Amino acid sequence: MTEGEELKNKQNDAKKDTGVVPIGIKLGSQRTVVVTGDNTHVIQTCVKESENPITGEKEYVVGNEALELYGDEAIYMLRGGLPGNDEEADLLRVFLGHIIEEYGLTENSYVTYAVPSTENEAGIDLIKKVISQVPVGWAGKEIWNDSFLGASAFPEGIDMIEKTFLVINLGSSTTELVAVRKGEIILNMVTGTVCGDLVDRWIKNEIQNETRGAVNVDLTTARMYKETYANLKKWENVQESVHLFERGKFSFRIDECIIRPIIRYLDRLVDFMCLEFLPELAESHFSVYKQVLNREFILVGGMAEIEGLKERLATKLAEALGTGISIKCPENPSTASARGAYLISKYRIENKQ
Ligand SMILES: Nc1ncnc2c1ncn2[C@@H]1O[C@H](COP(=O)(O)OP(=O)(O)OP(=O)(O)O)[C@@H](O)[C@H]1O
Ligand SMILES: [Mg+2]
Repeated sequence: MTEGEELKNKQNDAKKDTGVVPIGIKLGSQRTVVVTGDNTHVIQTCVKESENPITGEKEYVVGNEALELYGDEAIYMLRGGLPGNDEEADLLRVFLGHIIEEYGLTENSYVTYAVPSTENEAGIDLIKKVISQVPVGWAGKEIWNDSFLGASAFPEGIDMIEKTFLVINLGSSTTELVAVRKGEIILNMVTGTVCGDLVDRWIKNEIQNETRGAVNVDLTTARMYKETYANLKKWENVQESVHLFERGKFSFRIDECIIRPIIRYLDRLVDFMCLEFLPELAESHFSVYKQVLNREFILVGGMAEIEGLKERLATKLAEALGTGISIKCPENPSTASARGAYLISKYRIENKQ
């Protein structure tokens, strides 16, 4: 190493050594993901307000504890990853304040937030207000599109972001499709008509139908069945029995009650892609449309965790489009965008002038 290089390295090290901690936070309607270096925390984005019986003061049970204690009564304050009004923004502030404390996130940090759609201006304004009020990100903060960041969870890291690709983001309250041309989002479409929450509702209905109305599980249980047993690769017979006082015992096949809703979900997803998103992309940017069809689609979001879903979706898309389609999925697709957000924060700290 030459003297000049050595000096440059020393200066770079000094620049890096500001003690600023990089943090990536993905705000999702169902799950919030916090990445700090080697740690990834996944927290249910919900709170439950209660009143202290002695002092009468408002108290909040937050995240996973709220879900465990209150089930469907816990309030998920985001829709499509954004608050819809001031009350929801207040709940988000309580929620973030709690996780900052719980995970010891420091003020001296650079925080990149991944949010589902940056098109909804009112929602983005509310998010900006909330993140300006929480005690992290004093060295800087920024907001990025969640699907876009998911792409940087591949080994190429943030270099990936500068490429041309299509992302399919399978969330709980929304599905988002994003076409990226050399780092620029050129088309973004969000729908609530294909989403994980809907699958939970269909599973609940299937169980009701199977037991002729006797067994009525809550949506949290339906979701838990989906997350535990959904598998499009390996068919396993899973039987559940519920003993209802006076009415006797009811049994049903969980696997059957799950598979039908998931297939219906995939059919809707394929329709949304082939009848709405891709035609619009072809009309507005034909050459990008041709390019992305020839490349691998990127699949992220919690529903992409379902074993075999990626392959089944590729087959269905190939049938609908009459051409071979391949799909790639980062490891742990439900936390991918938070890892991408973390990489942006890290890059900012390392390249600070
Ligand atoms: N292992 C799993 N198996 C099946 N489904 C899963 C699994 N993990 C998560 N999901 C489902 O994925 C969905 C949550 O995905 P994700 O965390 O990407 O949503 P979100 O970003 O919080 O929501 P939105 O994008 O609507 O704001 C839920 O429907 C959840 O049940
Ligand atoms: Mg999402």
